[in-house]
Amino acid sequence: MSDISEYAVLTKNLTKIYSSGSIGVKSLNLSVKSGEIYGLIGPNGSGKTTTLRIIATLLKPTNGEVYVYGVDVVKNPLEARKLMNYLPEEAGAYRDLTGLDFIKFMLSLRFTGRRLEEAIGEAIEIADLGGDLKKPIRGYSKGMKRILALSTVLASRPKLLVLDEPTIGLDVERSIYVRNIIRRYNREYGITVLLSSHNMLEVEYLCNRVGILYRGSLLIEGAIEELKNRVGGVNLEEVFLKVKGEVH
Ligand SMILES: Nc1ncnc2c1ncn2[C@@H]1O[C@H](COP(=O)(O)OP(=O)(O)OP(=O)(O)O)[C@@H](O)[C@H]1O
Ligand SMILES: [Mg+2]
Repeated sequence: MSDISEYAVLTKNLTKIYSSGSIGVKSLNLSVKSGEIYGLIGPNGSGKTTTLRIIATLLKPTNGEVYVYGVDVVKNPLEARKLMNYLPEEAGAYRDLTGLDFIKFMLSLRFTGRRLEEAIGEAIEIADLGGDLKKPIRGYSKGMKRILALSTVLASRPKLLVLDEPTIGLDVERSIYVRNIIRRYNREYGITVLLSSHNMLEVEYLCNRVGILYRGSLLIEGAIEELKNRVGGVNLEEVFLKVKGEVH
């Protein structure tokens, strides 16, 4: 018998039905092992963001259980939040802050003193926005906002990083740069990563295991090589299309 605290994320029969009646997720059993990079893929509206928001304690499930390192996120959201950081699908407001003030503000919620100074320095380095950091966010492009948000999430070095489409809106070079940082943080600091993406190249490059969501449930899950063999595809894109094709 495995213990719930062995997993970075564990969901049991997770269900979210929105008040509109839409199904967000349906009896989802997801497990992310400590130390791995897990990729959640699936078509638009399949439930990726819903799942990640519930795990990040921003949305309450209708039914089911969610544990982050053994902590029940519904019952103990404050404790669970200390273990993770979340990058939302769309970066938030804070239009009037400068990028630098945003970094300082976000990290001051987690750290104090010397550790705060170090984390701020780390985020500045990751964001790599030069003089633009001193300008208000309202003048930033979407890619600049994305890298800024990512910089604070990464520099906070949580045990678990929950990233909803981390490289969306980033140019080719910045996407590669961000993927390499995610990989480095996973390897060097042992940070577990749960991410969603529509970019199969990215998922193949980064993830140890993937799960394909469809209409709120997992169609298939496993290591990428294993899925390729099982389904018979030369790459993850083919696996995705084959698996999805079978349910039509
Ligand atoms: N706030 C909401 N109110 C009502 N229904 C919602 C809400 N958010 C999501 N849904 C519905 O829940 C389902 C799952 O949506 P979700 O945003 O989780 O999908 P997704 O896999 O992240 O899609 P995408 O790839 O487009 O980001 C969809 O049917 C969607 O319409
Ligand atoms: Mg989404």
